[in-house]
Amino acid sequence: MMENTILVTGGAGFIGSHTCIALHEAGFRPVVLDNFSNASVRVLDQLERITGQRFPLVRGDIRDADLLRDTFQRYRIDAVFHFAALKAVGESVRQPLAYYENNVSGSLALLQVMQQCGVRRMVFSSSATVYGEPQYVPIDEAHPIGSTNPYGWSKVMVEQLLRDVASADSDFLALALRYFNPVGAHESGLLGEDPLGTPNNLVPFIAQTAIGRREHVQVFGSDYQTTDGTGVRDYIHVMDLAEGHVAAFRTHCGDFGFKPYNLGTGRGSSVLEVITAFEKSCGAHIPWEAAPRRPGDVAVNWADPALAVKRLNWRARRDLQTMTDDVWRWQSAYPNGLQEHTS
Ligand code: NAD
Ligand code: WQD
Repeated sequence: MMENTILVTGGAGFIGSHTCIALHEAGFRPVVLDNFSNASVRVLDQLERITGQRFPLVRGDIRDADLLRDTFQRYRIDAVFHFAALKAVGESVRQPLAYYENNVSGSLALLQVMQQCGVRRMVFSSSATVYGEPQYVPIDEAHPIGSTNPYGWSKVMVEQLLRDVASADSDFLALALRYFNPVGAHESGLLGEDPLGTPNNLVPFIAQTAIGRREHVQVFGSDYQTTDGTGVRDYIHVMDLAEGHVAAFRTHCGDFGFKPYNLGTGRGSSVLEVITAFEKSCGAHIPWEAAPRRPGDVAVNWADPALAVKRLNWRARRDLQTMTDDVWRWQSAYPNGLQEHTS
């Protein structure tokens, strides 16, 4: 088991790259496959600086069946950690076909080649978005499934594909890890979230405001039924998330079936609490102003991670202050991310 070679689709992206570190630290061999639609090739250099290892890179797309077949054979892949996807909720509403094509058809192509090559273990990047509008919090895995946008539906659909493949093939293992709000960066400051264009998510937006690339943070909604009126989410450090993948795979690598797990901390933080933590990290005031609620947002959303804690021998260990400290270390070392950094 310790010598398993893992194909990491989307391995140059935010969560995939951090998971490559956790895989390496646990004795696995990651092979990165990425089409670089939302990542920089320099991620591979940063991974080498952190781990001392140059991970093999396959530059290409999960929809390219010939490339996948060649990759499975060349590297003798034992399991797939499948991160590759488009992930912007608003964009998915405007371009649904692009999302279904990339996320659903891409996963289908990958599963078909896995079947042809006899690879029967997948760890899938699912999302709390598969719970749709929360009917209660904390959200456990028994919460009803649904969605409010094409991105979310693409995750629901891939989960269904995995359920069906696992019920047709009694040797197939599918772990669907439902992430809440991944944030943070590697503690070295060498690797972190590097969004192209204007960030959609709160923490990258705060980080870019702190470094002077944005004027101020807009706080979407200050009249929610929460302690300070702003939205509450379950922010989880990306390295805790990465370690959760390894824990899930180690626990279940000899099993079969479809197994969903929430990966969250079980604690909620408000937008203003995140801003305050970030101010402490960077030692400066972060300008913000109240703005109307963002369409589609809910007041509160956080995980019940009890199942993962009980079965996977894992729990999120890093607190909000560690998350914002690590983001600031990364953002201040690489103000423009990896795309334009020249030293
Ligand atoms: P990311 O955009 O940083 O990483 C995704 C990577 O996949 C990118 O490097 C991109 O270039 C690559 N990619 C996309 N389509 C591809 C394709 N067809 N072929 C090959 N490579 C392709 O995003 P992330 O935040 O690291 O998210 C990773 C996964 O986790 C995604 O599946 C996402 O939906 C899921 N997820 C993310 C969040 C979040 O808030 N970041 C929350 C829940 C779930
Ligand atoms: C967090 C809070 C905003 C930006 C999204 C996806 C979800 C999952 C994780 C993939 C909310 C507020 C935000 C800003 C703000 N992704 N906010 N100003 O919406 O909880 O989840 O990412 O699966 O599917 O929907 O995350 O970071 O966008 O927002 O006030 O500029 O910050 O209203 O309360 P969200 P987020």
